[in-house]
Amino acid sequence: MAAEMTISVDQEALPKGAALVATFLASLFITIFLYGSYNTFLHPLRRYPGPVAWRAFRFPYVIATHRGEMHQRLKQFHEKYGPVVRIAPNELSYADGAAWKDIYGNRPGHLPFTRSTWFKPMSPGEPHSIMGPDEEAHAKTRRAFANAFSEKSLRDQSPVIEGYLDIFMKQLKAPAAGRQWTEKTVDLNVWFNFLTFDISGDLSFAESFDCLKTGKAHPWVEIAQDFGKGLSLVASVNQYPPIDKLLRYVIPKNIRQRQTDHRAMSYAMARKRLALETDRPDYITPTKKYSKEKVALSIEEWQVNMVVIVFAGSETTASALTAITRELVQNRGVLNRLTREIRNAFEKEDDIKIASTGSLPYLDAVINEGLRLDPPIVIGVPRVVPEGGDSVCGQQIPGGTYVSFNQFSANRQSRNFRHPNSFIPERFLNPDPNTDDMSSFQPFSIGRQSCIGMKLAYAEMRVTLARLLFAFDISLASEKDRWDWGEQKTYIFWDKRPLRVTLRRSRVS
Ligand code: HEM
Repeated sequence: MAAEMTISVDQEALPKGAALVATFLASLFITIFLYGSYNTFLHPLRRYPGPVAWRAFRFPYVIATHRGEMHQRLKQFHEKYGPVVRIAPNELSYADGAAWKDIYGNRPGHLPFTRSTWFKPMSPGEPHSIMGPDEEAHAKTRRAFANAFSEKSLRDQSPVIEGYLDIFMKQLKAPAAGRQWTEKTVDLNVWFNFLTFDISGDLSFAESFDCLKTGKAHPWVEIAQDFGKGLSLVASVNQYPPIDKLLRYVIPKNIRQRQTDHRAMSYAMARKRLALETDRPDYITPTKKYSKEKVALSIEEWQVNMVVIVFAGSETTASALTAITRELVQNRGVLNRLTREIRNAFEKEDDIKIASTGSLPYLDAVINEGLRLDPPIVIGVPRVVPEGGDSVCGQQIPGGTYVSFNQFSANRQSRNFRHPNSFIPERFLNPDPNTDDMSSFQPFSIGRQSCIGMKLAYAEMRVTLARLLFAFDISLASEKDRWDWGEQKTYIFWDKRPLRVTLRRSRVS
């Protein structure tokens, strides 16, 4: 009897439960359908072209980000749909040079387009960093660090940078397996990373990561390699307020853990540097002076900003150096012309300094062409159109819309550049406005949030390439290892593959 009762109760409960689940699923399906239909047919951005699934939902954007394919998808979309593409229900991507000043510039009489939530604080109470969406925090931090990136500071910091370059060159010239060599194969991607991280570590924390000396990545640098991946995942879940905090748990535990460890390690290094009373040439000395004399930065503000700065200054420059060198060894005509320019300008390697590499026109053209073809900031950090809406490229856009200029996809459009996928530095020597739209080339962005380290980055790239090409004849280690930089994956930054080159001591060195 008891058994019969149990069975009859279960039989009743089962259809009820199933009906509940079915009702829930049907409502969910209808809600998703209505949401997608609204975004496609009724949303204020409905007239903008783009792939249907992307216009209706954000998940294709998130999936492409997670797969590291965003830059390739955007390039295809701009080729197919034109200079403005709707890449999410509330987001437009631009590949039109005129968009730079509208989105990122300071337009008199217009409210600022603020940064989106890509880099919002990770925990309650944490201050916004210089890269964050808060305009007030940005302005305060930018002012505080401005002196650290002035012409004078760059002059003071030059011997530090040149010192690391000495170690870099010494390591490349060092005997291999205890023997002198006439030919040696190295992975320059790794060595450029070591160089830029050591410089950044010194200028931020007053201690080198010693990657160059040891020939190994310091744990901080190793973790930082995954930093971009973690950041891009966080940035994509930040698009889903208010459930973004919950969604962070979807990010693999090991990546979250590495981010936490990285933060803890960086904060400890930042505090150690701040405790030092010194006037060494770095980012901290002028900023500390400003903080003492003008507007004080709290310890928490110091910490979050130093992590951003040490990373922003190293990964980007390493990426540019690797990309430019790959383009050089894959384009021998350009490599030969640049090598001639450098070897004609200097008698000996010791003469090659930051100050003496500032006026080599072909070197600058090569660097700019590398930044155009393979931009370190692949995807633009989106900005939010202010409340009430504003115009971009002559069209009125509703407030709250995310808008961005995406460098990789824009720089490789034939409407912007002739032979957009080819490495042609000559276009920067004599720009032809009929074929190359130089207004769309802004590798360091523009306006109040443009790159604070631009001068430093150019200085590092110039002096490194000049010393490398003066001392060595370089070539690809294997002709089979020839491919387009854009084939790599991106997670905010490029997921860089090795750059294996053969070095031979040059006749002049
Ligand atoms: C080739 C190398 C580099 C490139 C292409 C590059 C590019 C950029 C770009 C495009 C932005 C704007 C991001 C946005 O739109 O929100 C930016 C911002 C920034 N960069 Fe660089 N960067 C490079 C090197 C450096 C260096 C050497 C430093 C030195 C520490 C640095 C520090 C920063 C900082 C702190 C910001 C935030 C500025 C602000 O919001 O006021 N960058 N960079």
